This record gives sequence, structure tokens and C-alpha cells, in this order.
Amino acid sequence: MTPILLDTDPGIDDTMAIFYAMADPALELVGMTTVFGNVYTPDGTRNALALCELAGLDIPVAEGAHVPLVQPQHPPADFVHGKHGFGNAALPDPTRKADPRPAHQFIAETLAARPGEITIVAVGPLTNIALALQHHPEITKTAKKVVVMGGAVRTPGNVSAHAEANIWNDPHAAEIVFSADWHVTLVGLDVTERIQCTPEDFAPMLRTSPECGALMNDAAAFYFQFHIDTKGLNACFLHDPAAIICAQQPELFETVTAPITMRVDGEQAGRTVEDSAGKTPPVTICVEPDAAAIKARFLKHLRSGVLP
Ligand code: RIB
Ligand code: CA
Repeated sequence: MTPILLDTDPGIDDTMAIFYAMADPALELVGMTTVFGNVYTPDGTRNALALCELAGLDIPVAEGAHVPLVQPQHPPADFVHGKHGFGNAALPDPTRKADPRPAHQFIAETLAARPGEITIVAVGPLTNIALALQHHPEITKTAKKVVVMGGAVRTPGNVSAHAEANIWNDPHAAEIVFSADWHVTLVGLDVTERIQCTPEDFAPMLRTSPECGALMNDAAAFYFQFHIDTKGLNACFLHDPAAIICAQQPELFETVTAPITMRVDGEQAGRTVEDSAGKTPPVTICVEPDAAAIKARFLKHLRSGVLP
């Protein structure tokens, strides 16, 4: 069993990742923290709590940062994820409240309760993880490792020629996370854009998990339309699910190891540079996915009927 703490900006592919984490019996989702990016942070918190209620899972959700560390906030990616994060779909307001602690405190205390056991999986901008490092530097020792969905190392970005969205939304936070002395794995566009699902892949979930399947299919329809409109692709990228699968089964990814040097401003803001001459600790960079096996694992558990 792999315990994971998910830092997320839900978000349609975040929702796919959350459902997957809830459905795979090899994973223990110990809690979630929320951040801006695809949506404003309060919407992300609401979405995370609403997804827990829909799935019948009572885990803590702690709200995180509302703005980046240094730069002004970019607007949410509503053209990708809809105004509130589920495309044109919606969920009832959750009845449960968020954990009262700020995300960085929740992260530190959750890791400290099980030192060396829990993997942080960060699938949004890295602001909460950077704040946790600043306020609670011991997390470099209490976390097992950190898996980040973000970056574009040997491939173009998706918000600019150079930058991937999560890193671009807070490059200064990324610089802090990539400079710390802990084990970071980068699951960037180099691999996530090569793992794709079609509408037909999600349809069987309607039968096996009617409630979660209905939300997944309705939300994914918006996400597919974005990929059709912008890339002529009747499929979507499995960005955030790939990071979760990497946390549990890293052997499905070929990697290289090098320090990551950040570009934090200017035309290349958000660029993640593979820099063998860099002075920071090496990062494990995913460069080649076993896309068929990753997709098969993802769909197997989403369709297993574990979710309502
Ligand atoms: O670039 C892909 C990432 O940006 C994913 O985490 C997605 O949810 C968006 O936030
Ligand atoms: Ca995300």
C-alpha cells in the first residue's frame, strides 16, 4: 500500500487523478490540499470536498495558498476546466468543512505522524509545497518523496513555448521545491502528453460507477472539446493521473537524473531546464512512459466498480 498526500487544483484531470487514487487498492489517499491554478483556491477546496462526498470517502481536505509566492496570479484556466473546475458539470455543495489548518501545516503534521512513509503528489502549482518547506523544513526528512506533475524538459510547454501550466503559475515555488534536499520526481509534459484517453475509454464507468462515472464523463466532455479545439485531437492527456501512477509504479517510466534550474521570469518564465551543471540536488525526470501500461492501469481501476 502506497500512502499519498495529494496537492491539487481540481480541475478535470485532477478529478480523474482523485478518482483513480480513491479506486486503486494499492494506494492510500491520506488527505488532500488545495491550490489555485485551474480554479481559484476556494473552488478547488469545494471541489475536493464534493468529490470526497460523491465517492463516500471521509478524508481531510486542507485549503492552501490563494496566490503565488512572488508573481501576480494568472487567471484560472477556465477555458480548459470550466468556470468552476468540472467543465459544464456541477456537484452539490459539500456538507463537510475543510480541515482548519492551512495546507502547509496540514502537510507537515501529516508527514510527521508517519515519518518516511508518505509520498507527496503535487498536481497543481507548487506554492503549498514551497510554503511547507519554508515553514517546516523538516519535511525534507519526513516525506518519503515528492512526485510533481509539472514541467516540460525536452518538449515544448503548454502555456508558452517553454512553460508548463503548473510551473508557470508559480515558478518561484518550483525553484524552492527543486532546490531542496529531498527526492523529487518530475512527471512533465514529456510523458503526460503521450498518455491519452478517448471519450470511449470513459464511457464504461457510467455502468460500473454510475455516480462518479456520470461526473467523470460530463466533465471530461468539456476537456475533450478543449483538446479538439486546440489540437484537433479527439482525446485528452492524462497529466495528473500519470503522477499518481508514477508514485505507485515508477518502473512504468524511463527516467534521467539531473538538477532542474528554473527560469522564474521573462519570456521563458516557468521553463524547467535539465541542467547537469546545476548546483541543486538531482531530480528524477521522467522522459519515456510505458503509455499502454499506464493507461491500462488507470482504466482498470476507474472501471472496477469500487467507486459508487
Ligand atoms: O499542464 C497540465 C497541468 O495543468 C495539470 O495539472 C492540469 O490539471 C493543469 O493544472
Ligand atoms: Ca492539476
